[in-house]
Amino acid sequence: MAESTLRVAIVGAGPAGLFTAEELLRGPRPVAIDMFEKLPRPFGLVRYGVAPDHPHTRRIMRLLEKTLAHPAVRLHTNIEIGRDRTVEDLAARHDAVVIATGAEEDRALGIPGEQLANVHPSLAFAGWINGHPDFADLAIDLNVETAAIVGNGNVALDIARMLARTPEELAATDMAPDAREKLARHRIRRLHIIGRRGPVQASFGENEILELGTMPGIAFRIDPVVVMPDAADESELADPASDRARAVVAALRDYASRPAPPDARIELSFDFLRRPLAIGGETRARELTLELCRLEGDPFQRRAVPTGALQKIDAGLVIVSIGHRGRALPGVPFDVARGVIPADNHRVAPGIYAVGWIKRGARGLIGHNRRDAMETVGIIFSDFSRTRG
Ligand SMILES: Cc1cc2nc3c(=O)[nH]c(=O)nc-3n(C[C@H](O)[C@H](O)[C@H](O)COP(=O)(O)OP(=O)(O)OC[C@H]3O[C@@H](n4cnc5c(N)ncnc54)[C@H](O)[C@@H]3O)c2cc1C
Ligand SMILES: NC(=O)c1ccc[n+]([C@@H]2O[C@H](COP(=O)([O-])OP(=O)(O)OC[C@H]3O[C@@H](n4cnc5c(N)ncnc54)[C@H](OP(=O)(O)O)[C@@H]3O)[C@@H](O)[C@H]2O)c1
Repeated sequence: MAESTLRVAIVGAGPAGLFTAEELLRGPRPVAIDMFEKLPRPFGLVRYGVAPDHPHTRRIMRLLEKTLAHPAVRLHTNIEIGRDRTVEDLAARHDAVVIATGAEEDRALGIPGEQLANVHPSLAFAGWINGHPDFADLAIDLNVETAAIVGNGNVALDIARMLARTPEELAATDMAPDAREKLARHRIRRLHIIGRRGPVQASFGENEILELGTMPGIAFRIDPVVVMPDAADESELADPASDRARAVVAALRDYASRPAPPDARIELSFDFLRRPLAIGGETRARELTLELCRLEGDPFQRRAVPTGALQKIDAGLVIVSIGHRGRALPGVPFDVARGVIPADNHRVAPGIYAVGWIKRGARGLIGHNRRDAMETVGIIFSDFSRTRG
């Protein structure tokens, strides 16, 4: 007797959803896959997040296209599950529903002034430069002298890099033409990257921090804390598990020792141990009030503790890049505190599974979603075999 076909609905055509489809196609029995994507085009943050000056990463889209071209896969675009159809509808027509909706909400600072004009969350900026339909008309004003990026992750570095690129470098990318033209003419001369903890605790990747050091025209201004680690930081840096942090600190120390190039176009300032308290301005961002912090706690568990000392910096543009959260879907459990759909061994409820950032939280690289998809698909096949034989 022919094996029965496993019918699967996947919600979200980002890397997690597409790796799930790919793994299902590799599996031991026939499958029929319906993918539902709310946007007109697939690939999630690979298309609308990954920086346009990283074409090697964006090339993953070509591999993902192959999965979509498979005859067992049907992509339904412009369908938002939870608005146009419910998860319940999908469950009624499929043997399994896999939620792969990513982490679409930016985390907010929750400070006064965050609603002012020219304060933008990082996903809006990343979407704008990458042609995301929701951000094509982003009201961003780059006609300012000083800008601040809050957050010490790779997204903050992506944004800093794009603001520090020369017009010639921007012209070589596949970025959205309107954004390219606006970025090429910006007037920003000083850019602050602000972290509430220190350089040892920053989430920067080694390649990403080193790349900044290869770019022309940047005058670095690095907080003195990079050359003055305290005992707990020293012990964290000496740990064998701290390769990445050692590389980040070494790069920052190198940049701190470099004289400003004579042709510097932009000053890039790494300001550590500062937490934003308020964004000032009447209708639009003008300045940022920061509170100096010190670190407390054991190595690897260090917390930023406010000291009460304040500093104001000019900032006519503020980009908040402090991570992301998933969005709840009607009828599906949601962990509000973590911003994820909770799953037990990849299962959310009978016949409902989750994969990628919506389940694990907004951490990790594109490739990490592949392992997650492999494990999730293993559970789907075993549940199907148990219930349907
Ligand atoms: C700005 C940025 C840059 C990054 N750059 C890199 C990088 O250079 N290299 C790297 O390895 N990693 C990078 N990452 C991380 C990488 O993008 C993630 O690991 C990965 O995209 C997570 O995959 P996902 O499928 O879970 O989510 P997503 O990529 O967000 O995909 C989710 C998809 O679901 C769709 N969707 C959401 N809700 C619904 C709904 N209700 N109905 C239908 N469809 C829906 C969305 O439109 C989207 O297409 C970056 C992340 C960010 C935020
Ligand atoms: N090139 C690449 O490979 C690439 C590019 C982009 C993104 N990514 C990946 O995508 C994931 C998400 O990146 P991300 O940069 O968005 O997030 P992230 O790595 O989680 O960094 C978030 C940053 O925001 C800070 N932060 C959080 N809440 C804050 C608050 N209330 N006030 C001040 N600072 C706050 C965090 O500081 P604390 O540590 O103190 O919490 C941290 O420095 C990461 O895994 C990243 O590596 C990879």
